[in-house]
Parts: sequence; C-alpha cells; structure tokens
Amino acid sequence: MKFFVDSADLAAIEELADIGLVDGVTTNPSIIAKSGRDFKEVIAEICKLTDGHVSAEVVATDAEGMIEEGRILRKIANNVCVKLPLTMDGLKACNTLSRENVPTNVTLCFSPNQALLAAKCGASYISPFIGRLDDITLDGMELISDIRLIYDNYGYETEILAASIRNANHVKECALVGADVMTAPPAVIKGLANHVLTDKGLAAFLKDWETTGQSI
Ligand code: E4P
Repeated sequence: MKFFVDSADLAAIEELADIGLVDGVTTNPSIIAKSGRDFKEVIAEICKLTDGHVSAEVVATDAEGMIEEGRILRKIANNVCVKLPLTMDGLKACNTLSRENVPTNVTLCFSPNQALLAAKCGASYISPFIGRLDDITLDGMELISDIRLIYDNYGYETEILAASIRNANHVKECALVGADVMTAPPAVIKGLANHVLTDKGLAAFLKDWETTGQSI
C-alpha cells in the first residue's frame, strides 16, 4: 500500500520522506489555508520533496473553470495531480484532463456509485473519505471494501486512495481490504511505529546489554 502524507507541512513531509515513508502527498483548500502559504509556491516546494504525485485541488465549480485551473496547476511540476470534487462538473473535468494524460484525483467520495462514476471518467485516483463517514456514524471502511470489489469486478485501474484517515486502525483496515493508497496526517503515520511492548522490550534489551560492559 502506498503512503501519501495529507499535509502542506514541508518539514513534516521531509522528515517522513527521509525515513522512506512518502509515496506522494495530498492537500486540499483547507490544508492550504491552514499553512498560510501561497498555494502555487507551497505545491512547488512539496513537489520537490517527492517523486510521487502531489494532489493540488481546483476551486472552480464549473467544468470549464476546473479544466483551466487544472492545466495551470499541472504546469507547476511534473508530479502534480489535479484534485477535482465529485460533482458532475468535476467528472466532466476529470474526463477531459485524463484524456490529456493529466493525473487526476477525484475527491469527496462518499458512496460506491460515486466511485464507479470516477473510474468511468478515467480518474487516476478516487478519494473515499473514511473519517467523515465514521463521524456521522456510517461505516467508512465498508465504503473502501465496496469500491475494491466493484473496481476488481470490472478491472478498473483507478487507484483507491483512502482519505480522511484519523487513526492507526483506519490504516490497518485499509491495508486488510486492499486500498491501493492511504493518505494520513504526519502524526498518524508517525504513530504507526508505536507499541508499548516495543518500548518495554527495547528498554529491557538495553539494560541487559549494559551488564555485558561491551560496545559494538
Ligand atoms: C484527502 O485528500 C483529504 O485532504 C483529507 O484526507 C481529509 O481529511 P479530513 O476529513 O480529516 O479533513
């Protein structure tokens, strides 16, 4: 499963990239607003930190506007992936940009049928939002497994990019049901390494090692 970082925090992305845990990056208008940075500038800088796709989202709501913005964003760097909302206009823009070989990420997906439409329109990625479904007491993970089944039934190549991931359990479940990619905030990715028995075991090993008086 590919790991994308859902952030515009350059230091945090770089830290994870140095460890080898960054296959790409996703952003959205809220993340960009939180960064307080110029949109195109920050996307250009993120694109230098990874060879993988960096999702940059359009803000127009009509297809023509989205296509125009998508072409502008795509000029920032070769690894920019144009993120489009799952509306009829977004799907139309996805179809046009995909035919121009522009990588596309169709976002704000909350149903299997929406994912089916994105695949039919040639999306490179579909972004189903797990956490936001869980927030309203629906089953976000069921959406991921439904889309997996549907895409496999018909051999769609659109990659399932599990988004709105809030905790380690979401990551594990995504891997179990076969999401192609998961995108999570840096803190969630860093937390995956934590286990109380790892800490306890390491402390005991180091204590015993000290009694040997040796060095490596
Ligand atoms: C994905 O591309 C989105 O930016 C993100 O995962 C949304 O997460 P949230 O629901 O925690 O805001």
